[in-house]
Amino acid sequence: MPTDHSRNPLLVALDVESGDRAIELAKELREVAGGFKIGSRLFTLEGPALVRRLVDSGARVFLDLKFHDIPNTVAKAVEAAVRTGAWMINVHASGGAAMMQAAARAGSDASALDGRPTPLLIGVTVLTSMDDATLRDTGIGRPLLEQVLALARMAQTAGLQGVVASPRETAAIREACGPAFTIVTPGIRGASAGLEANDQARTMGPAEAMRAGASFIVVGRPIIAAPQPAAAARAIVEEIGGRTSGSAAISR
Ligand code: C5P
Repeated sequence: MPTDHSRNPLLVALDVESGDRAIELAKELREVAGGFKIGSRLFTLEGPALVRRLVDSGARVFLDLKFHDIPNTVAKAVEAAVRTGAWMINVHASGGAAMMQAAARAGSDASALDGRPTPLLIGVTVLTSMDDATLRDTGIGRPLLEQVLALARMAQTAGLQGVVASPRETAAIREACGPAFTIVTPGIRGASAGLEANDQARTMGPAEAMRAGASFIVVGRPIIAAPQPAAAARAIVEEIGGRTSGSAAISR
């Protein structure tokens, strides 16, 4: 029986220097990854053609461009992202309720018009590179977790399907936003994901993150920089095996 990728919560971050390398990795990992994340570096280098190539090969693509602009501009950007065939896209929740509502409307309208499935629209709450002090510098005085939860609730009310969250915030968001809310968790290290933290400060192992309530985990360097990427990815999937939470978001 073929592998059911739609139930595999492992998203591999293709943080590489060229489209050729991304395609090579995607081929190597296609049987073991649940999807691939393309960030702003690779997208700026290779453009939507790379996203379409991956989508045409049958892969689910999380287009991680974190849109943040006035509502009309974000709506148009979301519309363009839908046309790449991306399965998941994201915007900064701090852009506000009107911006997120415009994004959600654009996502469903553009996909309906094209007869495509509506992509999952995810909010970025507070970047994991920030702490209470750097948040205060931007004029936000409340504690980081409070800010994360407020933005997650705002994203949910505005019609977004979920948020990106550090492993440390996952359980509180799951509690606040309920079982159907999609939580995408990067910062995965330790256990089968290897011990080197790189620049990730607040990390968790793959199974631990799923237990905390993640719907998807995003893993980059522990897989793409491993001597055998497919083996590294397989070890992670095996570790989380049977831990897919069964939320509706996962089967999209
Ligand atoms: O290599 P590593 O596993 O740290 O990659 C994690 C990926 O998730 C990177 O592409 C990083 O930009 C992204 N990410 C993150 N923290 C966030 C949002 C995205 O680490 N809050």
